[in-house]
Amino acid sequence: MSEIRRESILKCYTDINQLNDTDRLLLEEAKKAVDTSYAPYSNFHVGCALQLNNGVIVKGSNQENIAYPSGLCAERVAIFSAGANYPNEAVKIMAITVKSDKFKVIEPIMSCGACLQSMSEYEMRFKKPMRIILQGETGDIYIAEGLKNFMPFMFWTDELKG
Ligand code: THU
Repeated sequence: MSEIRRESILKCYTDINQLNDTDRLLLEEAKKAVDTSYAPYSNFHVGCALQLNNGVIVKGSNQENIAYPSGLCAERVAIFSAGANYPNEAVKIMAITVKSDKFKVIEPIMSCGACLQSMSEYEMRFKKPMRIILQGETGDIYIAEGLKNFMPFMFWTDELKG
């Protein structure tokens, strides 16, 4: 028997002013995107802003539906919109932030597995790890260089690639 271990590294910042200009701008854009969330069922609002290789910023927010599974998370709204509108541009950075109508979110909230899987496709497709910035409504900011830090054993096999 042997063990396979993979390390995850998240850098933790206590204030938005500790971030570089681009990261700070993206987090601010993600916070603006929170206000476009349509979440009358969960009352949990998620905003996402991503920056493409060409510098363009694309935003997304969670969009819910009365038929619950028909809704979509903010990260996938943003990244699919980027893929549809800028099909040849790699995603460099994604900032994600949240706000609840019911409680104060004082810690970063990790993206769900389906979003991480969808995001991983863009890393693989463009062979470029993306920087991911997470913050709750307030509190610490986590930054990871690449999805491997969130999904160290992510689903991928070159054989399935078209
Ligand atoms: N949600 C996101 O937007 N991103 C995630 O990664 C997880 C959850 C949304 C979906 C739903 O509208 C609300 O948060 C509560 O689950």
